[in-house]
Amino acid sequence: MNESTTTADMASCYGIETTEEIFSPGLLIFKDLVQRNLEEMVRIAGAAERLRPHCKTHKTREIVQMQIELGITKHKCATIREAEMLAEIGVEDILLAYQMIGPNIKRLIELIERFPSPRFACLVDDPMALGPLSAAMNRAGKQIGVFMDVDPGMNRTGIDADSDAILLYEMICTSANIEIRGLHWYDGHHRQSDLQQRRAAVDAAWEPFTNLRNQILLSGFDVPAVVAAGTGSFPVLAEKGEPGLELSPGTTTYFDVGYQRTFPDLNLQPALGVLTRVISKRRAGHLTLDIGHKSVAADPPAGSRLFFPEIPDAKEVKHTEEHLVIATNRADEYQLGDTLVALPIHACPTSAAHDFANVISDGSVVDRWEIAARGR
Ligand SMILES: Cc1ncc(COP(=O)(O)O)c(C=O)c1O
Repeated sequence: MNESTTTADMASCYGIETTEEIFSPGLLIFKDLVQRNLEEMVRIAGAAERLRPHCKTHKTREIVQMQIELGITKHKCATIREAEMLAEIGVEDILLAYQMIGPNIKRLIELIERFPSPRFACLVDDPMALGPLSAAMNRAGKQIGVFMDVDPGMNRTGIDADSDAILLYEMICTSANIEIRGLHWYDGHHRQSDLQQRRAAVDAAWEPFTNLRNQILLSGFDVPAVVAAGTGSFPVLAEKGEPGLELSPGTTTYFDVGYQRTFPDLNLQPALGVLTRVISKRRAGHLTLDIGHKSVAADPPAGSRLFFPEIPDAKEVKHTEEHLVIATNRADEYQLGDTLVALPIHACPTSAAHDFANVISDGSVVDRWEIAARGR
């Protein structure tokens, strides 16, 4: 946590007056903190129009609505189900940030047929994917937008920013039933805690990318938009006056304890928690909780998946599917059935592990939201 934040401050942010009605393990969305994070995202971006947030973090209709209310009209997603959720609630500009392969092309066409109004786009980084996409769209009599995915050095997806990329861009521009939308750049690998070091790394990768964009323009092709950034690069790329730049952080909506530790420069606060109960206490100094790794992100290593604002000394000593054993000097203060709020180190897979969330505002449960796009 932030150096100046006391344990009492932290615990009071996540206090809930009455927990009797909340089943555990139960997902908690702290709505006031989400609202604050969204407003801070708009402030960092400079304007709501410069944002295209990723919905994979929350997969929840009501949070997209909160974003829309702030003027955010462009949205990004990773799965067909997320794209469907965005279309269901009337989002007009949806980027499915994934290369469509095999039967997913058919699913995409079905989605376009079901929702004729939104502007859909997907990613392409390979001519071998472009050909079948264009042919299938042509057969179906449909049109799809395409952003060319460029590798920022993350080595996950994306074509290298070299002459082959210019050729692929040209192919996209001249393919049947494809509308070129621009370039995609997800540089989520910049994890430097020091902002100056992170800025240097983001900028060093960005230079060849802008050269590529300029060469494409010189070749006579249009680059209508550039979709870029994850949480770490967001404040750095937000400073750029690049025309058509759309910033696409995702985790910023909930933030989480992992990113809070990694990116201390961001004035965001974890807004997702899980309510857990003490279900056994047979060993001195230990509590067994009903928050197994089926209800919280298990991608951080065992032993460092959760933070308990009320008992920050808690150490995770054993984590199984439905149980977590913690050691704490304050174990004696807790009885069977007592509740604790746990903050996940990684928010996105935590929310995806639950069907519903209890919505907390001003310390009370005010609503229950479905994690609508958690299925595939
Ligand atoms: C393509 C893409 N864009 C944007 C994001 C959002 O990044 P972050 O979660 O760091 O905000 C992700 C995250 O996985 C992503 O894969």
